[in-house]
Amino acid sequence: GRIAIGVDIGGTNTKFGLVNHRGEILAKGTMKTDVHEDVEGFIEEIYKHLEPLIIQNGGMTMVEGVGVGAPNANYYKGTIEQAPNLNWKGIVPFADLMSHKFGKACTMTNDANAAALGEMMYGAARGMRDFVMITLGTGVGGGVICGGKLVYGHDGFAGELGHTIVKPGGRRHWSTGSEGSLEAYASATGIAITAKKMRAEYPASMLNEYSEDDINAKTVYECALQGDATAIEVFRYTGQKLGEALANFVMFSSPEAILLFGGVIKAGDFILKPAKLHMEQNLLPVFRNKVKLVLSELSEADAAILGASALVWANK
Ligand code: BGC
Ligand code: NA
Repeated sequence: GRIAIGVDIGGTNTKFGLVNHRGEILAKGTMKTDVHEDVEGFIEEIYKHLEPLIIQNGGMTMVEGVGVGAPNANYYKGTIEQAPNLNWKGIVPFADLMSHKFGKACTMTNDANAAALGEMMYGAARGMRDFVMITLGTGVGGGVICGGKLVYGHDGFAGELGHTIVKPGGRRHWSTGSEGSLEAYASATGIAITAKKMRAEYPASMLNEYSEDDINAKTVYECALQGDATAIEVFRYTGQKLGEALANFVMFSSPEAILLFGGVIKAGDFILKPAKLHMEQNLLPVFRNKVKLVLSELSEADAAILGASALVWANK
């Protein structure tokens, strides 16, 4: 086959595409991740979306295989295990279910790992051998590349950087119960929580003009753009927590760069400036002013689709 199917499962949206050997996306689409409660329904739905695209591109015989990036993916087993931001509980044999439905081999990796692979092969990390990918969306994901290779570790879950602790005893995670994780602060979910807390302390903030349901990373960004000091402080604090975490990641793996990716980076300098400041402040001097903070070069949808599809060719 000449086409790989690449799928990126996110906490909110799932993106999919058909990709050729050169990393060109021939067709792509998106759907809500929670269209169905059960994983079988999800797989039916994604098949329904992909089938016409596959037919337009020469039919199923053209398809070499399926690559999937997903939260809490176990690379070795092709399972999704106890994902904090997905409805499917327990251990889901996702690769087997996909492979059964499509009649093709299916390889899986963590969604942030897939984004790291995509950037390494086709984007901002081309030529880099050591870098850390951080994805900031509904959840916070991490992908660690050392010596040109993704680090998987003993059980296949290495790089779950969103669940590292940035504030011991801090905010309780809505799903895992951990206290003070990076994800609890720097994900879109965490930003909304911070905004709701801070607006209660500042009655004059524009953030108070929104209903509880409408407070999200995007509306906070809109208020920040209009100069609302509370909204700006929400991002500054988020950036601080992110920067402190980045300092830890730098000292752990000595990367050439940290790549940032995902919806939350649309907040730009509101987050990036404090992140850089607090990263540098907390680094051991030998690391200071060396590590680049790089924004993803590929569009949000593309990096993980490309990375997931690359798994198909890597397996050949
Ligand atoms: C999951 C990760 C995932 C990240 C982004 C986290 O909650 O534990 O596996 O990469 O969300 O989706
Ligand atoms: Na990862």
